Amino acid sequence: MSNFHTIFEAAIQQLGGREAVQKLLSVGASALSNYRQRAQIPAAKRAKLEEALAAKGWHLDLEGLQLTPLSQARQQRILLLITGGIAAYKALDLSRRLMDRGYQIRGVMTRSAMEFITPLSLSALTGEKVYSDLFSLTDEAEMGHIRLARDADLVLVAPATANFIAKMAHGLADDLASTICLATDCPVMIAPAMNPNMWAHPATRANLDILIKRGAGLIAPEDGDTACGEIGTGRLADPQVIISAIDARLARHSAGADSPLQGKHILITSGPTFEPIDPVRYVGNHSSGKQGHALAAACARKGAKVTLVTGPVHLADPDQVEVIKIQTAKQMYDACMAQLPVDCAICAAAVADWHVVNGGQQKIKKTAKGTPQLALAENPDILASLSQHENRPSLVIGFAAETENLAEYARAKRARKKCDWIVANQVGGTGEAGVFGQDSNHVTIIDGDGMQDWPRASKKEIADKLVQKIEAWFHDHKR
Ligand code: PMT
Repeated sequence: MSNFHTIFEAAIQQLGGREAVQKLLSVGASALSNYRQRAQIPAAKRAKLEEALAAKGWHLDLEGLQLTPLSQARQQRILLLITGGIAAYKALDLSRRLMDRGYQIRGVMTRSAMEFITPLSLSALTGEKVYSDLFSLTDEAEMGHIRLARDADLVLVAPATANFIAKMAHGLADDLASTICLATDCPVMIAPAMNPNMWAHPATRANLDILIKRGAGLIAPEDGDTACGEIGTGRLADPQVIISAIDARLARHSAGADSPLQGKHILITSGPTFEPIDPVRYVGNHSSGKQGHALAAACARKGAKVTLVTGPVHLADPDQVEVIKIQTAKQMYDACMAQLPVDCAICAAAVADWHVVNGGQQKIKKTAKGTPQLALAENPDILASLSQHENRPSLVIGFAAETENLAEYARAKRARKKCDWIVANQVGGTGEAGVFGQDSNHVTIIDGDGMQDWPRASKKEIADKLVQKIEAWFHDHKR
């Protein structure tokens, strides 16, 4: 598993060593150690680093912790669903142009599309297997229809016949292409092509209205001579128009414009709390804030209004996030309650369970009388209070940090604190197996439906995956 340190060192080597990078970024040696220590690089320096690496043929992805040759940097995948109209032959030229544009094309053809073009021609052009059969066992083993649908960055139906549009609008799933339309959670774009009367028919218009309301993008057909000899609107849009529409839609999508989290207010707690013993010492824990801060950044990327209430950490504030810095659990509690109402709360902070009630106003001195006896009192439980507040957020997510009996204790915590989901992680391990302060995490999600164990991944990947789950929840609950 790569971590920030390894990727950063590899980037330095590619750029000719430390001195070359110091010169490039106009910083001293201590700044480089500081970036490494904090696992963060200021945005302007990071842009310079990425630019210099790109000039040498490397793609630096610090969130995904990858340094890959530009030629292998992930292309965006379009799943092209070709349905059965005379314009199907135009899908071949469209595929080629989309590939020239840098997209990876995977084709799916309906039975009637195969009356017009062969899967072989599309496969020869795209260099990818073309899928058509919902019930092919080999395909299910190699790539089930759900994975096919989920693996794409965008589903493009081109040409889309009136019949296929009707099936999409009404949720029919009797072949591979229509099943994919139901199973996918990525943006869907429809480029219709049909006879002008069919295009103008109220049934087709109503079906398209349904799909547009549901978020599908329409690339309207053009006026002119159609294959059936009539003049009117119904010709498949020009490939360049389709490509521009796809570029724009994917750009909007990656900027979070399509996300149900757009405009939602999300409250996140992160980091440790420090409970003072005296003005010099405190009771605290090992949380670095990496997981909570990664979540805040991931929510902000989706267009949410994010308020991050954080204990003392050595991390840069995430972009586009309101950050409230506190020291103690009581301060974190007050800051969180002052934010209500919010749409969603995620409690990733490692809040100290107790504070010291008999601490000193001045530094406690060592005396011959012996060791001071600290008296502790319980801190307010922020997660439980949010879950039971009259202004309860629609979705409340807690974490559980356990050193043993992870699932059992986490389940009990979810019930006791009355939150919707618990993200359980086993703390106490060291190095790559650890959680506190590490760049990666291994979590188990416990929700109303049961338990999902997610493989160990970077904290950024865990955050992105959790945010996808939150998006799906808000999508289903339409709040
Ligand atoms: O910060 P990192 O180094 O990246 O490490 C990440 C993490 C281990 C801190 C994080 O993944 C995590 O597990 N956070 C919760 C840690 C914790 O305190 O767990 P807990 O099991 O003690 O508490 C259960 C839940 O109640 C947590 O959501 C906690 O935020 C919340 N809580 C606890 C006590 C309290 N007084 N108020 C709370 O809100």
